[in-house]
Amino acid sequence: MSDFSGKLLLWYDRYHRILPWRVAPADLLNGKKNDPYRVWLSEVMLQQTTVEAVKPFFEKFVTTWPTVFSLAKAELDDVLKAWAGLGYYSRARNLKRCAEQIVADYNGIFPNSLESLKRLPGIGDYTAAAILSIAYNEPVAVVDGNVERVIARIFSIDEPLPRAKMTIRARTQELTPEKRCGDFAQSMMDLGGSICTPRTPKCMICPVESLCEGKRSGNPEAYPVKPPKPQRPQRHGVAFVALNKDDEIYLEKRHSSGLLGGMTQIPNHFSERNHYSVNDAPFQADWILKGKAQHVFTHFSLVLDVYLAKNVEKTAAGNGWWCSVNELANEALPTVMKKAISVAIPESFKIKGTNSGKLKRKN
Ligand code: ADE
Repeated sequence: MSDFSGKLLLWYDRYHRILPWRVAPADLLNGKKNDPYRVWLSEVMLQQTTVEAVKPFFEKFVTTWPTVFSLAKAELDDVLKAWAGLGYYSRARNLKRCAEQIVADYNGIFPNSLESLKRLPGIGDYTAAAILSIAYNEPVAVVDGNVERVIARIFSIDEPLPRAKMTIRARTQELTPEKRCGDFAQSMMDLGGSICTPRTPKCMICPVESLCEGKRSGNPEAYPVKPPKPQRPQRHGVAFVALNKDDEIYLEKRHSSGLLGGMTQIPNHFSERNHYSVNDAPFQADWILKGKAQHVFTHFSLVLDVYLAKNVEKTAAGNGWWCSVNELANEALPTVMKKAISVAIPESFKIKGTNSGKLKRKN
């Protein structure tokens, strides 16, 4: 075992984070195994947000669907609802399709090769490697954003991302031990998540500080070297919160394809056209401008003018449905819609202003 993995595993034995999807090192030694289903589920969730934010979603999923068989049999709508708030609903759809395929094609047992895993919906290089490493103890490099940062610092890699990815993967592979590779992968993630953080890393308590070239350079924060930030185009749109006299809000379903496909929404427009106004309201009512909701998507940022109308006649609305404001939490509403609703009805969601309530994204 290399000096690096030896030091890191010793640190992990003592300081590993206790996480609901993780089997502790001492329990692994006693023969307990990481369940590939739980590893897969947590890794898909962790691709988009932080460990702390994922915990309650993970608990809810494994309580409702404790095995891949139960998830395969679940109603897609229920899965989308349980996913609401995590974002990127295509991932939830893939999750469901992946569970179905594992049951149909593999008898419910996750395959144990990179190629087979990567043929499954929603499983890419990273997730396949994480499953192999953590659940099956195969010595493959598992490289997420945290690990990229750790490796770029340890080796003071000057090449900017994303070009440096190949080098980083190769270096991670070199450091990955034959034994305890799942623990090693997770120790790298823990190190990146708690000590080797993007800003002000805690080098004085780092178990591999003495091996870190980034630290030796005097400015570990300079790594990984980032490419210049792309400018996101900004879109302007409108969203309409209609309330009837029973305190119910008018909802509809988005088209099943495209952005936020199949999710629930309030009537809105935000295409590239940009020139929207109250004239684009879905039906006649006393619309009042309540404020703006902001949201950042991967490829554009959005500002919505949010209009509210009260005492709308139920029959005036279109083909959607009316939902009690108290029951909005049970709807598959994407975060952008929650933000818009909270601008018009501040007590509806615990979203302060227009830009919070969003789960913290990774880096
Ligand atoms: N981030 C992504 N996967 C993780 C894991 N298995 N443990 C801790 N942090 C993670």
